[in-house]
Amino acid sequence: MTFSTTLLYHHLLILVILLLHAPPCPAAGGSWSVLLPSIGISAMHMQLLPNDRVVMYDRTDFGISNISLPNGKCRPNSTDCSAHSVEYDVGSNTIRPLMVLTNVWCSSGTLMRDGSLVQTGGWADGYRRVRTYKSCDTCDWAEIPDGLNQQRWYATNHLLPDGRQIIIGGRQAFNYEFYPKMSAAENSPSFPFLVQTNDANVENNLYPFVFLYPDGNLFVFANNRAILFNYAKNQVVKTYPTMPGGQPRNYPSTGSAVLLPMRLNKGNVNVIEVLVCGGAPKGAFVNANNGRFDGALDTCGRIKISDVNPQWVMETMPLARVMGDMLLLPNGHVLIINGASAGVAGWELGRNPVLSPVTYRPDNQMGSRFEVQNPSTKPRVYHSTAGLLRDGRVLIGGSNPHDKYVFTNTLYPTELSLEAFSPSYLDASSSTLRPTIISPKTKTTIRYGKRVAIRFMISGPVDLNSVSVTMVSPSFNTHSFSMNQRLLVLDSGNSTKALGKSNYQVVVTAPPSGNFAPTGNYLLYVVHKEIPSPGIWIRIQ
Ligand SMILES: *[C@@H]1O[C@H](CO)[C@@H](O)[C@H](O)[C@H]1NC(C)=O
Ligand SMILES: *[C@@H]1O[C@H](CO)[C@@H](O)[C@H](O)[C@H]1NC(C)=O
Ligand SMILES: *[C@@H]1O[C@H](CO)[C@@H](O)[C@H](O)[C@H]1NC(C)=O
Repeated sequence: MTFSTTLLYHHLLILVILLLHAPPCPAAGGSWSVLLPSIGISAMHMQLLPNDRVVMYDRTDFGISNISLPNGKCRPNSTDCSAHSVEYDVGSNTIRPLMVLTNVWCSSGTLMRDGSLVQTGGWADGYRRVRTYKSCDTCDWAEIPDGLNQQRWYATNHLLPDGRQIIIGGRQAFNYEFYPKMSAAENSPSFPFLVQTNDANVENNLYPFVFLYPDGNLFVFANNRAILFNYAKNQVVKTYPTMPGGQPRNYPSTGSAVLLPMRLNKGNVNVIEVLVCGGAPKGAFVNANNGRFDGALDTCGRIKISDVNPQWVMETMPLARVMGDMLLLPNGHVLIINGASAGVAGWELGRNPVLSPVTYRPDNQMGSRFEVQNPSTKPRVYHSTAGLLRDGRVLIGGSNPHDKYVFTNTLYPTELSLEAFSPSYLDASSSTLRPTIISPKTKTTIRYGKRVAIRFMISGPVDLNSVSVTMVSPSFNTHSFSMNQRLLVLDSGNSTKALGKSNYQVVVTAPPSGNFAPTGNYLLYVVHKEIPSPGIWIRIQ
């Protein structure tokens, strides 16, 4: 072959490779908008509150942020008079600076029954802190110095049916504890599963994926496997198989996970499933530290944890992803958003941001579940966040792979902006299908097991058989995992009926107990043909 024919073959080969690597499904929808170009901090942790405000914070040792504390305040014993936490008001699209006293870096939290955020742990002076935030126009963080028994850095929290939260693990913390404590003597039971899943010098099991199972036990996934755990008796109830391939899925090989929507049927949920997606292959952390950025995992494992003999079923995502967030959308689809396609979580260790979110339809046949969405323009890599808003948009913030604020001369500058991703169900073309809830009023309290009539309007033609009612918990998001995330499809017994022109009613039964939905605040949606209404806040007790 002459040089030029070799070159031609080379070009053809590249063309074939490009065609083979084109996404299997075309970009489908969704749109992006910048809400605020700078909120002054890099949203590393995020929690939606029941007054449609969102608390965010980064860390107190990032240096001077781009927003000052109010009224010339400074942190005690510090020359840093900038804020490292803000409250975002969704309605007015404004922010207000808040003051955290101690380091909240890589911490965790839970929205409590009363609607206050109780955040735990952090680093250094923040290791054993508990901080509470009750929202109001002038409220700020309150700190409890020795609120925790153990140092909690990279722990996972979950709200329990008794109203307390459990705080599991953290770096070198192979145990768990509760907040608030029943007594001063309450200790931190050991949790050997966290020792067993801890890869030497790499970990791969921090920020474990924890879900409350409706029998009251906790499903805990760390590294590449899972157990069902009775935290009250400190007993492993069930051991699930290792995910095929055995690749790590938790920090720093950060993937994500959701408890798939739970469909209530006559006071029970027949099938309970977990979906774990993405992460980084074994060795990726060590390689990334040596400047070699391994391709992220493109697999998801799905398991029916309610089966007698549960098995993982593997699926392939259209895009490989590490540090992706998984969010349950009001219509029961899963959104996979943010992250990178190479490297791992950690300072400067991620490469090749994945700008396109992907949706996953759990009820579709395998092979037709994933759909690539329209891309953002902003890399959201390490320390980025995502959270569902009441109106169905997804709030996106953060991204800072540097241990200070770095805005120039770097691959992925510190991101201070706040964006919204609007899934395609918010397209104006769906407005005639979209329900609007008339009653109950927002902030209504509903009781376990009781029937609730929901009235709604739809302007266009209605398929009465395509109406469902979902309930979504507001989750605490950090490091690609949303703690406390759950979605219940309420039992409506096919009761949807027309009441008059464009007016409809569906009667649903509230979840039977706190094991299904711990007492607290939830978003309620009426969904018609996969198009959700704007949500209303309800309180279940
Ligand atoms: C910091 O905030 C100011 C407005 O207060 C804004 O003009 C500037 O762009 C911000 N800096 C960054 C890096 O976002
Ligand atoms: C500030 O430093 C003093 C002296 O070290 C210490 O007693 C005090 O508790 C510190 N205050 C805070 C809020 O950390
Ligand atoms: C509701 O309708 C669906 C499909 O028509 C049916 O499979 C289901 O059993 C019905 N549920 C109830 C509670 O009647």
